[in-house]
Order: sequence, then structure tokens, then C-alpha cells
Amino acid sequence: MTKHRSLYRTLNFLRFKRKSWFFLKFGFLVFALIVFCEYIIYYLVIFQCRWPEVKTIASGSKQQTPAPVLKVMFLADTHLLGEINGHWLDKLRREWQMERAFQTALWLLQPEIAFILGDVFDEGKWSSPKAWAADVERFRRVFRHPPHTQLIVVAGNHDIGFHYEMNTYKLQRFKKVFDFGELFSIKGINFVMVNSVAMEGDGCTICSSMEAQLIKLSHLLNCSRQEKYHSNPNCSGIQQLSASAPILLQHYPLYRRSDADCTGEDSAPPEKKNLLFEERYDVLSKEASQKLLWWFQPRLILSGHTHSACEVLHDGKIPEISVPSFSWRNRNNPSFIMGSITSVDYSLSKCFLPLEHTVLTIYCTAGILVALLILTHCQPV
Ligand SMILES: *[C@@H]1O[C@H](CO)[C@@H](O)[C@H](O)[C@H]1NC(C)=O
Ligand SMILES: *[C@@H]1O[C@H](CO)[C@@H](O)[C@H](O)[C@H]1NC(C)=O
Ligand SMILES: [Zn+2]
Repeated sequence: MTKHRSLYRTLNFLRFKRKSWFFLKFGFLVFALIVFCEYIIYYLVIFQCRWPEVKTIASGSKQQTPAPVLKVMFLADTHLLGEINGHWLDKLRREWQMERAFQTALWLLQPEIAFILGDVFDEGKWSSPKAWAADVERFRRVFRHPPHTQLIVVAGNHDIGFHYEMNTYKLQRFKKVFDFGELFSIKGINFVMVNSVAMEGDGCTICSSMEAQLIKLSHLLNCSRQEKYHSNPNCSGIQQLSASAPILLQHYPLYRRSDADCTGEDSAPPEKKNLLFEERYDVLSKEASQKLLWWFQPRLILSGHTHSACEVLHDGKIPEISVPSFSWRNRNNPSFIMGSITSVDYSLSKCFLPLEHTVLTIYCTAGILVALLILTHCQPV
């Protein structure tokens, strides 16, 4: 009798051991799956991106010392969710994704500068002081960066409001966190950053003070760029910049009719391509666009706001790149632009992040497999 019972106990113990071993293996698999989908996949995907090659000596120039190359990443429309429109789970997930994508890109690609072309926040346009402070704190965590990488942010309509809701208070609190001025010069490259929400052209206080600022900057750049200006008395005593044509960075794109001519897998979806853009809402007004082109004669323009990719040529020679949104909330295939830039030339490429579909498919497939495994395992013996 006692012998019998002890046999029974041993059997029970063995069965328990087998079961806990199964759950241990099972737990480990789930853990590995999450680590893969939430962490490792960013390394696998971003690892495939390369800095584009750029000529460092201008063709036909007598100068023989190569111009230094600046490695820059451009991203746009991160739309960090606020307390009103954001569901906490959505917020948590999107921020985790952007944090991993950004941190992995910094680690693998080592850019010298990262520009965010506006709409960093979703609710900067109306958030209370407390909500704004919380948003800024989360921004600083998600986009933290080592001292050898600079992070520069351009204002967008969701950061300071559309023109009709923008005011000095919102602009000032934005500038307090992200004060970069309108000009950023490095390695002989001039970046001009425009608050495009203030390019309404209606003479509002913020608009006119910004325009005055831009005209001053245009003068400064003209003095450095053109031979005929060197002897101009108006240029004497003015700080000398590199003679390189500036690169314009802003949130709204310059005026274009629609996205009809945009191509590429991440351009606007077909049903949206033929919708006409509204001036001062989807794109800058014609006048404001013309002004910017006249003032700066830029060699390249980068903008955000549309959430989709596009390449346009202005006046037959000045390219503008629409940088798609960096958030999975806005697209299945977010990306950022990688630029190798010198004072004489530049070359751009696009780095795609993991597709949201891929990650969801992996999770679903794994979920079904696990369900099958449990079903077969829990069958009575
Ligand atoms: C700078 O030069 C451009 C081109 O010559 C011109 O259109 C622009 O008005 C100039 N800027 C200023 C402030 O005069
Ligand atoms: C110098 O600037 C003044 C006013 O800003 C302008 O009227 C004048 O034409 C400029 N002179 C030259 C030579 O560009
Ligand atoms: Zn926008």
C-alpha cells in the first residue's frame, strides 16, 4: 500500500516537473519574441542603411582640398501624443517605437546632426502649461542623444498652432526649449530654418518680425555669396559666412498644386494624390514660397507636414524633398532621410524603419503557433 502511494507521488512529481519545464520554455519563447519585435528588429533593419557617397571636390573648381562631409539625418512629424487626443496605450507604443528607431539610428549611423522638421508634438497648439512640460520631458527622453550629436528642431503647426491659433506665448515656450535661431552654419554649410507657420503674409506681429529677421539673414548670405557684394558698402562690417548656397528647412512645403506627381512607395495614397492643396494650410502660399526662393536661392529644401514622400523641382532647378512622418501612427512605413553634405555638393538617401505590418504579422503568427502548442500539450494523456 505505502509502496503504491509513493509511486503515485513520484509520478505526480514527474508530471509537475514536465509541466513546469514546458511553461519555462514557453515563457522563454514569448520573452524572445518580444525582445525580437521590440528591440532587435530595429538593429536588423537600420543596419542595412548606408550614408550616401558625395563628391568632396567641386567639378571645375580650382580648389583641391576636399570639403569636409557632414552627416545629417532629417526626420519629420513625430507627433508625440498629448493628454487629450492620446490613448495611453497608443502613446506608449508609438513613443517606444520612435525611441528605439531613433536611438538605434544614432548608435549605428552616428550622425553629426539630426533635424526634426516640425510637428514634434501633437498638442503643443493647445496644451496647458503642465501638459506642455510633460510633453517636453517625454520628448527629451525619447530623443536623448550623446553630446557629439546635435538635435535641431524646426517649429510646426502642431507645436505652436496654425497661424490663427499661434500666439507669442506658444512661440516663446517653444523657443525656450528649442532655440536655434534662423541660421545654423557648420563645416561651411548654411542651414536656414524658417518658422513656416509665420509665413502667412498678413503682417501679423510674429509674421512681420520673422520676415524682417529673414530679410536680414538674406542680406547676410548675399554679402558672403556674391562677388559683386564684396565691394558693396552695405556689406562692410558684416559677419562673413561660407559662400555656399543655403539649405532651407521648414515644416510646410513650398507651394505645389497637389501630390499628383509624387512617386515612390511612400508617396501619398492614390485617392489623396489628386486632392488640391490649400495654400497656408497644406502648403505655403504662392507669394511666401516665391519670397523664400528669391531671398535665399537655396540649393535644396527639406520640409514635412504632408506625412508622405515627394520630390519637387522649383523654378526648374531647386529640389524640395518632402520628408515622410517618422511615426507609425501616421504610416506603415516610416523613414528618415540620410544626407552626406558638403559646402559644394550633397547626396541623400532614405532609411526605412521596420514595417508595422511585419511586426504585427510576426506577433500574430507566433500567437497562433502558441495557441496550437498549448492545445496539443493540454490534451488529456
Ligand atoms: C539677395 O540676393 C537675391 C538674388 O540676387 C535677391 O533676390 C534678394 O532680394 C537679395 N536679398 C536682399 C536682402 O537684398
Ligand atoms: C544699401 O542698402 C540700402 C538700404 O538698405 C539700399 O537702399 C541701397 O540700394 C543698398 N546699396 C547697394 C549698393 O546695394
Ligand atoms: Zn504639420
